[in-house]
Amino acid sequence: MSDAALVTRNLVAGFENTEVLKGVTVEVPPRGVTALIGPSGCGKSTLLRCFNRMNDHLPGFFRRGEVLVEGRDAYDPSWPLEALRFQVGMVFQKPNPFPLSVRENVLFGPRLAGVSKSDILEEILVRSLTRAQLWDEVKDRLGASALEFSGGQQQRLCIARALASAPGIVLLDEPASALDPIATAKLEETIRELAQEIAVLLVTHNMQQAARVAHRTAFLYLGRLVEEGETTQLFAAPREKLTEEYVTGRFG
Ligand SMILES: Nc1ncnc2c1ncn2[C@@H]1O[C@H](COP(=O)(O)OP(=O)(O)OP(=O)(O)O)[C@@H](O)[C@H]1O
Ligand SMILES: [Mg+2]
Repeated sequence: MSDAALVTRNLVAGFENTEVLKGVTVEVPPRGVTALIGPSGCGKSTLLRCFNRMNDHLPGFFRRGEVLVEGRDAYDPSWPLEALRFQVGMVFQKPNPFPLSVRENVLFGPRLAGVSKSDILEEILVRSLTRAQLWDEVKDRLGASALEFSGGQQQRLCIARALASAPGIVLLDEPASALDPIATAKLEETIRELAQEIAVLLVTHNMQQAARVAHRTAFLYLGRLVEEGETTQLFAAPREKLTEEYVTGRFG
């Protein structure tokens, strides 16, 4: 896959003396949802954070092996961190909007990047909220504090905030785990829509969620990529015994 959005080759990473990722080679296609599944502590978040260098400031972090974002070395020192993170957006388990208005949350990145023309900012605002499927719910309350909205709305606002920087890739680390089923369904719909245009890498503990939204699924176990493939195949006819045991709930 030469046009892969994300690639790792023999990625070894960890903290102090502990290898968390033990030689992971994986590719994420430029469009579609790729789910990353695996038991707690297997290294899913660590892997995700390698793609936007979010581990780098953590004490004792080390890394060997390649990490490519759209073909470019994510650890290339000439690639400013800010620019990398505009390209690789991230949304976390717990919604974390800034304590600012809806509008200022979405426009935070563009303003940081120096966009100042009001008609351009307005266009980014509407487009990002629309793509995050939040526009109808907030269009009359753009000046209200983000903290006044529900968890599901806040999570979609965090997606809109990431989209405002026009990323080619969005990393989602268990984005629905704090949401009720209705908010989860709405978020999944948003994720599916987004993935028509960009690459989405979604960490989830929920196999049904992976089956519902992910085109491809990767199974990580104890820092190793056990298996990666089309979601339907990985769940219905896994190649590896370990995958079968995990997806059928025999451990995890
Ligand atoms: N900042 C850190 N310092 C030291 N060890 C860490 C740090 N972050 C994570 N680890 C260790 O790395 C391993 C993998 O953690 P990681 O958060 O990547 O797992 P995970 O698959 O995302 O788990 P979960 O499903 O519970 O979120 C764990 O053993 C964890 O203790
Ligand atoms: Mg995690």
